[in-house]
Amino acid sequence: MVIGIMGALHEELAGMLEAMPDERRQQVAGRTFWCGRWQGQEVVAVLSRVGKVAAATTATALIERFGVNQIVFTGVAGGIGQEVRVGDVVVANGFVQHDMDASPLFARHEVPLYGRTVFETDVALSSQLAHAARDVLADVGRHVQAQSVQAFALQRAQCHQGLVTTGDRFVSSSAECRALQQALPQALAVEMEGAAVAQVCFDYGVPFAALRTISDRADDDAHTDFGRFVTEVASHYSVAVLSQWLRQLT
Ligand code: ADE
Repeated sequence: MVIGIMGALHEELAGMLEAMPDERRQQVAGRTFWCGRWQGQEVVAVLSRVGKVAAATTATALIERFGVNQIVFTGVAGGIGQEVRVGDVVVANGFVQHDMDASPLFARHEVPLYGRTVFETDVALSSQLAHAARDVLADVGRHVQAQSVQAFALQRAQCHQGLVTTGDRFVSSSAECRALQQALPQALAVEMEGAAVAQVCFDYGVPFAALRTISDRADDDAHTDFGRFVTEVASHYSVAVLSQWLRQLT
């Protein structure tokens, strides 16, 4: 069993690589893939890059060139569900592309020739990730410095499971966020890669799961504190959740 781990952030990948001392690198399609063992599992870790096309290329290379049997994605997202706050975690149960619109030929958001709008994630894998995320959030002070727990009010952080929406835009205005909420009322979070990876995994029949830490509310303040949040919180969550999940597989 080879597990593909796609990280959206340099900081996350750095944390993982520190824990993979025997890793060896390989370059494919201009990307660096790190192959090694982590928590007793064979893994290939790679930066997804940003946006749907880049992420689809990365996922395809993981499957075609590295023969991964499953893919887990970790990164940050904007929270658009009413109850989804900065510092929460969303484990996706499916993805929809909010910028896919071939109407009137096909229904809005439907991916032409697939006959579907939503690409679901693997149920068992997602439930394992959600368990690991809940364990980490229940003891958040072990993974994140006290100062950051205070600053981002992480004591109340929760793990949600639900629909995540993807598009090639960083959503950073309250008006755009409202439009998204109206178009996709079930969506909990917005990001820029997940639906593309979900579609590639669907094509190849590879189980897929994704974990997103909420870094902003996709509104006029979306960029404030983004860098600080990624460094102080999201990167630590990812490493903690993934290592906890991998440990439970052994
Ligand atoms: N990733 C993190 N925050 C995001 C946002 N507001 N829009 C799109 N992708 C994101």
